[in-house]
Amino acid sequence: MTRDKLTAYIHTWGCQMNVRDSEHIKGILKGEGYDISDTPEGASLVVLNTCSIREKAEQKFLSELGRLSLQKKKHPELKIAVSGCIAQQQGRALLKSHPSVDFSFGPQNIFGLKEFLYDEHRTAFTKENFEAENEKLQTPHRDNDLRAWVNIMYGCNNYCSYCVVPYTRGRERSRPFEHIISEARDLAGIGYKEITLLGQNVNSYNGGCTFPELLTMISNIEGILRIRFITSHPKDLNAELASTIGENKKICNHIHLPVQSGSSSVLTRMNRKYTYEEYFTKIQLLRKHVPDIAITTDIIAGFPGETDSDHKETVRALKEIEFDGIFAFKYSQRPNTKAAGMDHQLSDKIKSQRLAEILTVSDVITENINNSLEGRCFEVMTEGKSETNAENKWFGRTTSNKIVNFLPNENTKRGLIVMVRIIEGFKHSLDGELVV
Ligand code: 5AD
Ligand code: SF4
Repeated sequence: MTRDKLTAYIHTWGCQMNVRDSEHIKGILKGEGYDISDTPEGASLVVLNTCSIREKAEQKFLSELGRLSLQKKKHPELKIAVSGCIAQQQGRALLKSHPSVDFSFGPQNIFGLKEFLYDEHRTAFTKENFEAENEKLQTPHRDNDLRAWVNIMYGCNNYCSYCVVPYTRGRERSRPFEHIISEARDLAGIGYKEITLLGQNVNSYNGGCTFPELLTMISNIEGILRIRFITSHPKDLNAELASTIGENKKICNHIHLPVQSGSSSVLTRMNRKYTYEEYFTKIQLLRKHVPDIAITTDIIAGFPGETDSDHKETVRALKEIEFDGIFAFKYSQRPNTKAAGMDHQLSDKIKSQRLAEILTVSDVITENINNSLEGRCFEVMTEGKSETNAENKWFGRTTSNKIVNFLPNENTKRGLIVMVRIIEGFKHSLDGELVV
């Protein structure tokens, strides 16, 4: 049954870029009189904001679309829209193969959404639209009132041979730094304490200053207590960034630096433009400037032609570097990418075995690192009641991005920086106590 008021539900798959895009989509819909709902039930419009980085994400989208299409048979007034990377990739073909879809638009056409709402069966897949100009006109709906995402650049020029992103999000383009600073100032003015700068490759930012200069400018904004950023590409990471993180207390002690593989021959075929040895040198540079820095990474298991000895090099790299955490994935063949056409695609069985080994090795390392923090004190930004904890605990994050659960006291409220002593380290979180 549809509700009286216009209600929209937005389902988001994929990376932080997509999460941020959904905030823009929600903002536009709210401006058009929609309530944003947490469930698809009873919604008059469902937007499926899709991801195509791996086949699994695409399958999840297709099964949700199938479910909604059945619902639409019973309630023909339900509108279904598809956005994100699959929409961009499939273009008009998606409307043909799935007639239940009313309209669809790519990541670079979100700001055209207003028109599509009143003009069904439209699609828009412009390439390289300059979003920054449009963004000034928008008031995104933000999901969190303490920590905000801020786009600093869009697209990617790297063409890693496995990756679909350059084909779905277009060429790299940086927002002018003045726009970013003004957005950050506005956020500070309405109470935001933490900003995460978003880009596919933030180290190649060139919107009028260098990325470290941008970080420094944002750190000068009163009210902003913490600054984070994702994602960094190892080839563009330099001493200027490492020393800026080390010297500036507001810039968090965490970097996500995808290595993808510990084998230099695989890295060459991935078109990553660095060897494992060069990557390791960057890790040493970071640790020299920021001794306490937490480093997380992405790994792909079973890239085409990856030999057993390449895989062993990846496992060795995990042990050598000791990442605080990893995201590991089985290689997935993606349309249009160079790697999809490479010889020696590996079986799912080999990919699964290698992925399992990578995760087992890395879990032990993560847990050991978290155990080693027991007894130490860290600044934690308080975020709210812990969702996983039954004992009325609160949670927050260290600057190294580790979740800490602790018992609150009478002064505890959201958005404070408090000192917490770590009592016990686990694989995914830490338990601590307030130090008063
Ligand atoms: N198969 C598996 N993992 C992939 N990634 C990107 N493309 C693929 C693919 N085709 C992973 C990379 C990247 C992360 C966001 O997703 O590790 O860093
Ligand atoms: Fe994809 Fe490589 Fe660009 Fe990351 S840097 S989005 S993995 S092409």
